[in-house]
Amino acid sequence: MKKIAITGSGLFTPAESISNDELVASFNAYVEQHNATHAAEIASGQREALAPSSSEFIFKASGIQSRYTVNKSGVLDIGVMRPQIAPRADGEPSLMCEMGVAAAREALHRAGRSVADVNAVIVACSNLQRPYPAIAVEIQSALGIRGWAYDMNVACASATFGIQAAVDALRQGSARGVLVISPEICTGHLNFRNRDCHFIFGDAATALLVESVDAQNTTGFEVLGTRLQTQFSNNIRNNFGFLNASEAPSRTWDDLLFRQEGRKVFKEVVPLVSELIVSHLAELGMQPHAVRRFWLHQANLSMNQLIARKVLGREPDAMEAPVILNEYANTSSAGSVIAFHKYHQDLKAGDLGVLCAFGAGYSAGSVVLRKLS
Ligand code: COA
Repeated sequence: MKKIAITGSGLFTPAESISNDELVASFNAYVEQHNATHAAEIASGQREALAPSSSEFIFKASGIQSRYTVNKSGVLDIGVMRPQIAPRADGEPSLMCEMGVAAAREALHRAGRSVADVNAVIVACSNLQRPYPAIAVEIQSALGIRGWAYDMNVACASATFGIQAAVDALRQGSARGVLVISPEICTGHLNFRNRDCHFIFGDAATALLVESVDAQNTTGFEVLGTRLQTQFSNNIRNNFGFLNASEAPSRTWDDLLFRQEGRKVFKEVVPLVSELIVSHLAELGMQPHAVRRFWLHQANLSMNQLIARKVLGREPDAMEAPVILNEYANTSSAGSVIAFHKYHQDLKAGDLGVLCAFGAGYSAGSVVLRKLS
Protein backbone atom coordinates (compact mmCIF):
# COMPACT_ATOMS: atom_id res chain seq x y z
CA MET A 1 0.00 0.00 0.00
CA LYS A 2 1.24 3.50 -0.89
CA LYS A 3 2.72 5.39 2.06
CA ILE A 4 1.10 8.80 2.68
CA ALA A 5 2.38 11.68 4.83
CA ILE A 6 1.44 15.09 6.13
CA THR A 7 4.40 17.10 4.86
CA GLY A 8 3.48 20.65 5.85
CA SER A 9 1.12 22.64 8.04
CA GLY A 10 -0.01 26.28 8.01
CA LEU A 11 -1.94 28.57 10.33
CA PHE A 12 -3.71 31.89 9.84
CA THR A 13 -4.46 33.77 13.06
CA PRO A 14 -6.67 36.91 12.90
CA ALA A 15 -5.00 40.13 14.11
CA GLU A 16 -7.54 40.92 16.83
CA SER A 17 -7.95 39.08 20.13
CA ILE A 18 -10.53 39.41 22.93
CA SER A 19 -9.66 38.57 26.54
CA ASN A 20 -12.19 36.99 28.91
CA ASP A 21 -12.33 40.27 30.88
CA GLU A 22 -13.16 42.28 27.74
CA LEU A 23 -15.83 39.79 26.67
CA VAL A 24 -17.39 39.63 30.13
CA ALA A 25 -17.43 43.45 30.47
CA SER A 26 -19.38 43.68 27.21
CA PHE A 27 -21.75 40.80 28.12
CA ASN A 28 -22.45 42.26 31.55
CA ALA A 29 -23.12 45.73 30.08
CA TYR A 30 -25.68 44.05 27.79
CA VAL A 31 -27.24 42.24 30.80
CA GLU A 32 -27.47 45.51 32.77
CA GLN A 33 -29.08 47.31 29.85
CA HIS A 34 -31.50 44.42 29.23
CA ASN A 35 -32.54 44.20 32.89
CA ALA A 36 -32.99 48.00 33.15
CA THR A 37 -35.11 48.09 29.98
CA HIS A 38 -37.34 45.27 31.28
CA ALA A 39 -37.26 46.27 34.97
CA ALA A 40 -41.06 46.44 35.33
CA GLU A 41 -41.68 43.02 33.75
CA ILE A 42 -38.88 41.52 35.83
CA ALA A 43 -40.34 43.05 39.01
CA SER A 44 -43.82 41.66 38.21
CA GLY A 45 -42.43 38.19 37.47
CA GLN A 46 -43.37 38.24 33.76
CA ARG A 47 -39.76 38.04 32.66
CA GLU A 48 -36.59 36.60 34.17
CA ALA A 49 -33.64 38.86 34.85
CA LEU A 50 -30.49 37.91 32.95
CA ALA A 51 -27.52 36.85 35.10
CA PRO A 52 -24.01 38.22 34.61
CA SER A 53 -21.07 36.22 33.27
CA SER A 54 -17.66 35.95 34.91
CA SER A 55 -14.06 35.47 33.74
CA GLU A 56 -13.40 33.16 36.68
CA PHE A 57 -16.22 30.83 35.61
CA ILE A 58 -15.08 30.81 31.98
CA PHE A 59 -11.48 29.92 32.84
CA LYS A 60 -12.45 27.33 35.44
CA ALA A 61 -15.15 25.64 33.31
CA SER A 62 -13.27 25.66 29.99
CA GLY A 63 -9.61 26.71 30.33
CA ILE A 64 -10.20 29.53 27.82
CA GLN A 65 -8.46 32.88 28.46
CA SER A 66 -8.88 34.67 25.11
CA ARG A 67 -9.98 34.16 21.50
CA TYR A 68 -9.04 35.64 18.14
CA THR A 69 -11.74 37.12 15.94
CA VAL A 70 -12.10 38.58 12.47
CA ASN A 71 -13.80 41.63 14.05
CA LYS A 72 -13.44 42.65 17.68
CA SER A 73 -15.41 45.94 17.70
CA GLY A 74 -18.66 44.32 16.49
CA VAL A 75 -18.44 41.47 19.00
CA LEU A 76 -17.89 43.85 21.94
CA ASP A 77 -20.46 46.51 20.89
CA ILE A 78 -23.60 45.65 22.89
CA GLY A 79 -25.76 47.03 20.10
CA VAL A 80 -24.23 44.49 17.67
CA MET A 81 -22.67 41.51 19.53
CA ARG A 82 -21.43 39.71 16.43
CA PRO A 83 -18.43 40.18 14.13
CA GLN A 84 -19.13 42.71 11.41
CA ILE A 85 -17.62 42.15 8.01
CA ALA A 86 -18.04 44.30 4.91
CA PRO A 87 -19.94 42.54 2.14
CA ARG A 88 -17.71 41.82 -0.85
CA ALA A 89 -18.53 41.82 -4.55
CA ASP A 90 -18.67 38.42 -6.29
CA GLY A 91 -15.39 39.20 -8.07
CA GLU A 92 -13.50 39.80 -4.81
CA PRO A 93 -11.99 36.95 -2.75
CA SER A 94 -14.25 35.89 0.14
CA LEU A 95 -12.95 36.21 3.70
CA MET A 96 -12.79 32.42 4.10
CA CYS A 97 -10.83 32.18 0.86
CA GLU A 98 -8.33 34.78 2.10
CA MET A 99 -7.84 33.00 5.43
CA GLY A 100 -7.52 29.60 3.75
CA VAL A 101 -5.03 30.87 1.17
CA ALA A 102 -2.80 32.34 3.90
CA ALA A 103 -2.76 29.02 5.81
CA ALA A 104 -2.22 27.02 2.60
CA ARG A 105 0.75 29.17 1.52
CA GLU A 106 2.44 28.52 4.86
CA ALA A 107 1.80 24.76 4.61
CA LEU A 108 3.36 24.71 1.12
CA HIS A 109 6.30 26.83 2.27
CA ARG A 110 6.99 24.62 5.29
CA ALA A 111 6.85 21.52 3.09
CA GLY A 112 9.18 23.13 0.54
CA ARG A 113 6.54 22.64 -2.18
CA SER A 114 4.85 24.83 -4.75
CA VAL A 115 1.28 24.85 -6.08
CA ALA A 116 2.54 22.70 -8.98
CA ASP A 117 2.90 19.83 -6.48
CA VAL A 118 -0.80 20.01 -5.54
CA ASN A 119 -3.79 19.00 -7.65
CA ALA A 120 -6.56 18.80 -5.07
CA VAL A 121 -8.03 21.10 -2.42
CA ILE A 122 -10.44 19.95 0.26
CA VAL A 123 -11.98 22.64 2.46
CA ALA A 124 -13.10 20.79 5.57
CA CYS A 125 -14.79 22.96 8.20
CA SER A 126 -17.92 23.61 10.28
CA ASN A 127 -19.32 26.73 8.73
CA LEU A 128 -19.11 27.69 5.08
CA GLN A 129 -19.91 31.28 4.27
CA ARG A 130 -21.98 30.32 1.20
CA PRO A 131 -23.26 27.08 -0.36
CA TYR A 132 -21.60 27.54 -3.78
CA PRO A 133 -19.39 27.97 -5.68
CA ALA A 134 -17.36 25.89 -3.22
CA ILE A 135 -14.87 27.88 -1.11
CA ALA A 136 -12.38 25.11 -2.01
CA VAL A 137 -12.75 25.91 -5.72
CA GLU A 138 -12.26 29.61 -4.97
CA ILE A 139 -9.08 28.82 -2.99
CA GLN A 140 -7.89 26.50 -5.76
CA SER A 141 -8.32 29.33 -8.27
CA ALA A 142 -6.69 31.95 -5.97
CA LEU A 143 -3.63 29.68 -5.56
CA GLY A 144 -3.52 28.73 -9.25
CA ILE A 145 -3.90 24.96 -8.67
CA ARG A 146 -4.90 22.70 -11.57
CA GLY A 147 -7.15 19.79 -10.60
CA TRP A 148 -10.21 19.49 -8.41
CA ALA A 149 -11.59 20.88 -5.15
CA TYR A 150 -14.62 20.46 -2.92
CA ASP A 151 -16.05 21.56 0.43
CA MET A 152 -17.08 19.21 3.21
CA ASN A 153 -18.57 19.74 6.65
CA VAL A 154 -18.38 17.30 9.55
CA ALA A 155 -18.34 20.05 12.21
CA CYS A 156 -15.36 20.09 14.59
CA ALA A 157 -14.12 16.71 13.28
CA SER A 158 -13.95 18.00 9.68
CA ALA A 159 -10.15 18.15 9.36
CA THR A 160 -9.77 14.45 10.29
CA PHE A 161 -12.46 13.48 7.76
CA GLY A 162 -10.63 15.66 5.20
CA ILE A 163 -7.33 13.91 5.96
CA GLN A 164 -8.94 10.50 5.40
CA ALA A 165 -10.45 11.73 2.11
CA ALA A 166 -7.00 13.02 1.07
CA VAL A 167 -5.28 9.74 2.01
CA ASP A 168 -7.89 7.73 0.05
CA ALA A 169 -7.51 10.00 -3.02
CA LEU A 170 -3.71 9.68 -2.92
CA ARG A 171 -3.88 5.89 -2.52
CA GLN A 172 -6.37 5.53 -5.36
CA GLY A 173 -4.26 7.77 -7.59
CA SER A 174 -6.94 10.44 -8.08
CA ALA A 175 -4.63 13.06 -6.52
CA ARG A 176 -0.87 13.77 -6.37
CA GLY A 177 -0.86 16.31 -3.55
CA VAL A 178 -3.86 17.44 -1.46
CA LEU A 179 -4.34 20.56 0.64
CA VAL A 180 -6.81 20.03 3.50
CA ILE A 181 -7.87 23.51 4.60
CA SER A 182 -10.01 24.44 7.61
CA PRO A 183 -11.01 28.12 7.68
CA GLU A 184 -13.23 28.76 10.69
CA ILE A 185 -15.12 32.00 11.44
CA CYS A 186 -16.83 30.46 14.47
CA THR A 187 -17.67 33.85 16.02
CA GLY A 188 -20.18 34.34 13.17
CA HIS A 189 -22.38 31.51 14.49
CA LEU A 190 -21.89 32.17 18.20
CA ASN A 191 -24.70 33.71 20.28
CA PHE A 192 -22.78 36.38 22.20
CA ARG A 193 -25.97 37.11 24.21
CA ASN A 194 -26.09 33.56 25.63
CA ARG A 195 -24.28 33.33 28.99
CA ASP A 196 -23.87 29.55 28.69
CA CYS A 197 -21.76 29.71 25.55
CA HIS A 198 -20.78 33.33 24.71
CA PHE A 199 -17.12 32.60 25.55
CA ILE A 200 -16.63 29.37 23.64
CA PHE A 201 -15.46 30.11 20.10
CA GLY A 202 -12.71 31.91 18.21
CA ASP A 203 -11.60 32.28 14.58
CA ALA A 204 -8.56 30.83 12.72
CA ALA A 205 -7.68 28.86 9.60
CA THR A 206 -5.36 25.88 9.18
CA ALA A 207 -3.97 23.93 6.25
CA LEU A 208 -2.25 20.56 5.89
CA LEU A 209 -0.40 19.31 2.83
CA VAL A 210 -0.92 15.57 2.33
CA GLU A 211 1.32 13.72 -0.15
CA SER A 212 2.67 10.29 -1.10
CA VAL A 213 5.96 9.22 0.47
CA ASP A 214 8.53 8.31 -2.17
CA ALA A 215 12.26 8.63 -2.85
CA GLN A 216 11.95 12.43 -3.31
CA ASN A 217 9.68 12.91 -0.37
CA THR A 218 10.75 11.40 2.94
CA THR A 219 9.94 14.10 5.49
CA GLY A 220 6.86 14.92 7.53
CA PHE A 221 4.50 12.59 9.38
CA GLU A 222 3.47 9.31 7.81
CA VAL A 223 -0.24 8.57 8.19
CA LEU A 224 -0.29 5.07 9.69
CA GLY A 225 -4.06 4.96 9.84
CA THR A 226 -7.27 6.95 10.00
CA ARG A 227 -10.49 5.99 11.72
CA LEU A 228 -13.77 7.93 11.68
CA GLN A 229 -16.91 7.52 13.76
CA THR A 230 -20.31 9.22 13.85
CA GLN A 231 -23.31 8.89 16.14
CA PHE A 232 -26.40 11.10 15.86
CA SER A 233 -27.00 13.65 18.63
CA ASN A 234 -28.92 16.92 18.97
CA ASN A 235 -26.76 18.06 21.89
CA ILE A 236 -24.76 20.38 19.61
CA ARG A 237 -26.97 21.93 16.97
CA ASN A 238 -27.20 24.78 14.48
CA ASN A 239 -30.47 25.20 12.55
CA PHE A 240 -29.17 27.81 10.12
CA GLY A 241 -29.73 26.87 6.49
CA PHE A 242 -31.14 27.85 3.13
CA LEU A 243 -34.64 26.66 4.03
CA ASN A 244 -34.90 29.15 6.92
CA ALA A 245 -36.51 31.73 4.60
CA SER A 246 -39.12 29.14 3.52
CA GLU A 247 -40.03 28.08 7.03
CA ALA A 248 -43.36 29.45 8.29
CA PRO A 249 -43.62 30.43 11.04
CA SER A 250 -40.02 31.68 11.01
CA ARG A 251 -37.50 30.57 13.58
CA THR A 252 -36.27 33.12 16.10
CA TRP A 253 -32.82 34.71 15.50
CA ASP A 254 -31.22 32.74 18.32
CA ASP A 255 -32.40 29.41 16.87
CA LEU A 256 -30.18 30.10 13.86
CA LEU A 257 -27.00 30.18 15.96
CA PHE A 258 -24.91 27.55 17.77
CA ARG A 259 -26.37 25.92 20.86
CA GLN A 260 -25.34 22.97 22.97
CA GLU A 261 -26.00 20.96 26.11
CA GLY A 262 -22.39 21.32 27.22
CA ARG A 263 -22.55 19.00 30.20
CA LYS A 264 -24.17 16.16 28.19
CA VAL A 265 -21.64 16.65 25.39
CA PHE A 266 -18.80 16.39 27.88
CA LYS A 267 -20.23 13.20 29.41
CA GLU A 268 -21.03 11.45 26.14
CA VAL A 269 -18.07 12.48 23.98
CA VAL A 270 -15.26 11.67 26.46
CA PRO A 271 -15.90 7.86 26.43
CA LEU A 272 -16.64 7.84 22.69
CA VAL A 273 -13.32 9.55 21.87
CA SER A 274 -11.13 7.69 24.35
CA GLU A 275 -12.47 4.34 23.10
CA LEU A 276 -11.96 5.46 19.50
CA ILE A 277 -8.29 6.30 20.14
CA VAL A 278 -7.53 3.16 22.16
CA SER A 279 -9.22 0.80 19.68
CA HIS A 280 -7.65 2.54 16.68
CA LEU A 281 -4.18 2.16 18.21
CA ALA A 282 -4.91 -1.50 19.05
CA GLU A 283 -6.01 -2.15 15.46
CA LEU A 284 -2.61 -0.81 14.36
CA GLY A 285 -0.84 -3.02 16.92
CA MET A 286 0.16 -0.08 19.14
CA GLN A 287 -0.09 0.68 22.83
CA PRO A 288 -1.18 4.16 24.03
CA HIS A 289 2.00 4.52 26.12
CA ALA A 290 4.04 4.36 22.89
CA VAL A 291 2.43 7.61 21.69
CA ARG A 292 4.53 10.73 22.31
CA ARG A 293 1.85 13.30 21.50
CA PHE A 294 -1.93 13.69 21.32
CA TRP A 295 -3.10 16.67 19.26
CA LEU A 296 -6.68 16.79 20.51
CA HIS A 297 -9.64 18.92 19.50
CA GLN A 298 -9.57 22.09 21.56
CA ALA A 299 -12.98 22.65 23.17
CA ASN A 300 -12.45 22.22 26.89
CA LEU A 301 -9.28 21.75 28.93
CA SER A 302 -10.73 19.31 31.49
CA MET A 303 -12.24 17.26 28.67
CA ASN A 304 -8.84 16.91 26.98
CA GLN A 305 -7.12 16.05 30.25
CA LEU A 306 -9.76 13.40 30.97
CA ILE A 307 -9.50 11.88 27.47
CA ALA A 308 -5.68 11.74 27.73
CA ARG A 309 -5.95 10.23 31.21
CA LYS A 310 -8.40 7.55 30.02
CA VAL A 311 -6.23 6.70 27.02
CA LEU A 312 -2.91 6.63 28.91
CA GLY A 313 -4.22 5.23 32.19
CA ARG A 314 -2.34 7.96 34.06
CA GLU A 315 -2.05 11.76 34.29
CA PRO A 316 -0.73 13.22 30.99
CA ASP A 317 2.07 15.78 31.15
CA ALA A 318 1.60 19.15 29.42
CA MET A 319 3.58 18.19 26.31
CA GLU A 320 1.74 14.89 25.80
CA ALA A 321 -1.54 16.67 25.06
CA PRO A 322 -0.62 20.28 24.28
CA VAL A 323 -3.19 23.03 24.78
CA ILE A 324 -3.89 26.00 22.52
CA LEU A 325 -7.49 26.67 23.55
CA ASN A 326 -6.33 28.99 26.34
CA GLU A 327 -5.25 31.47 23.63
CA TYR A 328 -7.51 30.49 20.68
CA ALA A 329 -10.67 29.13 22.42
CA ASN A 330 -12.58 26.55 20.37
CA THR A 331 -11.76 27.06 16.68
CA SER A 332 -13.78 24.00 15.67
CA SER A 333 -12.07 21.92 12.96
CA ALA A 334 -8.92 24.07 13.12
CA GLY A 335 -8.21 23.34 16.83
CA SER A 336 -6.41 19.98 16.71
CA VAL A 337 -4.48 21.12 13.63
CA ILE A 338 -3.33 24.30 15.42
CA ALA A 339 -2.07 22.08 18.27
CA PHE A 340 -0.24 19.92 15.68
CA HIS A 341 1.15 22.99 13.87
CA LYS A 342 2.55 24.54 17.05
CA TYR A 343 3.72 21.37 18.80
CA HIS A 344 5.48 18.92 16.49
CA GLN A 345 8.92 20.40 15.77
CA ASP A 346 10.57 18.67 18.76
CA LEU A 347 9.51 15.16 17.74
CA LYS A 348 12.17 12.75 16.44
CA ALA A 349 12.11 10.23 13.59
CA GLY A 350 9.94 7.27 14.61
CA ASP A 351 7.94 9.17 17.25
CA LEU A 352 4.21 8.45 17.23
CA GLY A 353 1.38 10.99 17.53
CA VAL A 354 -2.41 10.95 17.33
CA LEU A 355 -4.39 13.83 15.87
CA CYS A 356 -7.97 13.50 17.09
CA ALA A 357 -10.94 15.81 16.56
CA PHE A 358 -14.53 15.51 17.75
CA GLY A 359 -17.73 17.51 17.89
CA ALA A 360 -21.24 17.95 16.53
CA GLY A 361 -22.93 15.03 14.86
CA TYR A 362 -21.49 13.52 17.04
CA SER A 363 -18.47 13.05 14.82
CA ALA A 364 -14.94 11.98 15.69
CA GLY A 365 -11.79 11.18 13.77
CA SER A 366 -8.45 9.67 14.79
CA VAL A 367 -5.31 9.97 12.66
CA VAL A 368 -2.25 8.02 13.81
CA LEU A 369 1.03 9.57 12.65
CA ARG A 370 4.71 8.58 12.73
CA LYS A 371 7.49 11.13 12.28
CA LEU A 372 9.58 10.37 9.21
CA SER A 373 13.20 11.54 8.94
N1 COA B 1 -20.64 32.89 33.93
C1 COA B 1 -20.90 32.50 35.20
N2 COA B 1 -21.64 31.39 35.51
C2 COA B 1 -22.11 30.66 34.47
C3 COA B 1 -21.87 31.01 33.12
C4 COA B 1 -21.11 32.18 32.88
N3 COA B 1 -20.82 32.57 31.63
N4 COA B 1 -22.45 30.10 32.33
C5 COA B 1 -23.05 29.22 33.13
N5 COA B 1 -22.86 29.55 34.43
C6 COA B 1 -23.35 28.85 35.64
C7 COA B 1 -24.61 28.06 35.36
O1 COA B 1 -25.75 28.86 35.50
C8 COA B 1 -24.54 26.97 36.40
O2 COA B 1 -24.95 27.51 37.63
P1 COA B 1 -25.73 26.59 38.73
O3 COA B 1 -24.74 25.53 39.11
O4 COA B 1 -26.04 27.56 39.83
O5 COA B 1 -26.92 26.04 38.01
C9 COA B 1 -23.02 26.71 36.53
O6 COA B 1 -22.38 27.88 36.04
C10 COA B 1 -22.56 25.52 35.73
O7 COA B 1 -23.03 25.63 34.39
P2 COA B 1 -22.80 24.51 33.30
O8 COA B 1 -23.37 24.98 32.00
O9 COA B 1 -23.28 23.20 33.83
O10 COA B 1 -21.20 24.56 33.20
P3 COA B 1 -20.17 23.45 32.83
O11 COA B 1 -19.28 23.19 33.97
O12 COA B 1 -20.81 22.26 32.18
O13 COA B 1 -19.29 24.21 31.71
C11 COA B 1 -19.04 24.24 29.31
C12 COA B 1 -19.92 24.63 30.50
C13 COA B 1 -19.79 24.61 28.05
C14 COA B 1 -17.73 25.01 29.42
C15 COA B 1 -18.72 22.71 29.37
O14 COA B 1 -19.91 21.99 29.62
C16 COA B 1 -18.10 22.18 28.09
O15 COA B 1 -17.13 22.70 27.56
N6 COA B 1 -18.62 21.05 27.59
C17 COA B 1 -18.09 20.40 26.40
C18 COA B 1 -18.64 21.08 25.22
C19 COA B 1 -18.00 20.66 23.92
O16 COA B 1 -16.99 20.00 23.87
N7 COA B 1 -18.62 21.07 22.88
C20 COA B 1 -18.14 20.84 21.58
C21 COA B 1 -18.47 22.08 20.87
S1 COA B 1 -17.91 22.00 19.26
